[in-house]
Amino acid sequence: MQPKLKSKVRSGEREVGEVTSVIVDPLSHDISHIVVGRNGTGERQIPMSQVQVVSDDLIQLKAAADLDQFPPLKRDDFVTTHEVEIAHLEDRLHVQCGEVLVPLPDLEKNVKRRTFFTNFTHAIGILISLPLIFPVLRYLMKPMYAPFDNSWLKIGSVNKIKTDDVGVQFKYKKKVKEAFMPEAEIDKNVWILRASPKVLDAVYKGKDMEFHDSKGKVIWTNKKDVPYVAFSGKCPHLGCGYKWRSHKVLGQVFLCPCHLSIYDASGKVLDGPAPRPLDPLPIRVAANGEVQIIDMEFKAGTKAQIRIV
Ligand code: FES
Repeated sequence: MQPKLKSKVRSGEREVGEVTSVIVDPLSHDISHIVVGRNGTGERQIPMSQVQVVSDDLIQLKAAADLDQFPPLKRDDFVTTHEVEIAHLEDRLHVQCGEVLVPLPDLEKNVKRRTFFTNFTHAIGILISLPLIFPVLRYLMKPMYAPFDNSWLKIGSVNKIKTDDVGVQFKYKKKVKEAFMPEAEIDKNVWILRASPKVLDAVYKGKDMEFHDSKGKVIWTNKKDVPYVAFSGKCPHLGCGYKWRSHKVLGQVFLCPCHLSIYDASGKVLDGPAPRPLDPLPIRVAANGEVQIIDMEFKAGTKAQIRIV
């Protein structure tokens, strides 16, 4: 006969508690222990080898022993048959209503019982879905890691520039592809100068200016004696658009209306919060007078010039 839940348990002539659950050997499907509880004293696990008689509603222990002699139940070392499926267990076991406990394998004892199966299920879910989500993630993230676009853009004729050391705005359109957005065309601009030798020297400080790709390879060199200079249309402070304006004291300057940074014709900061001079861009002028630039953008607000586009 199998022990029943809620059966009274006696040791000698004394009643020591009642069966609150049973522990099953997952391999043999036999009941290996009864768990006996007594009001307020916790639960003890008693091996079946200590059980002498099992009757309809009473279990008699072999020796007259106190309940405290048996080890306390470590509930976290077990799962219930609601949490783990053991094939054919119900054919062998006839305990009614209540918990049937199955020992947790040793390797899993460090994992919290209630979270073990949840984590296990999540892990399996992630493994199964990886082949599905990877192409989507790659599609979404690819534009963020797209290499810099170092192609030359035609932005207008050099004939637009009439006077030396005067900023002239050239507007152009550029196709961009932001993460998970469709490709779009945006309006951009740069400022071009035909620089006098004095301004040219202030820009290049006597040296040719190299531009690099993301691997550090030189993609273009602005020659220090070619008079055409291009500045990115974004203010290095926080990226606003600036203008060529007349200043009462400083004369003709580049003026950013956002926080009033002021730059001279060579891009040098004369006033305001800008952390660095205007950003020169690669520029070349074709034989037919067509001005071409490589569109680059740099991180705003930093002293160092860090390319981001
Ligand atoms: S963005 Fe130009 S001064 Fe602040």
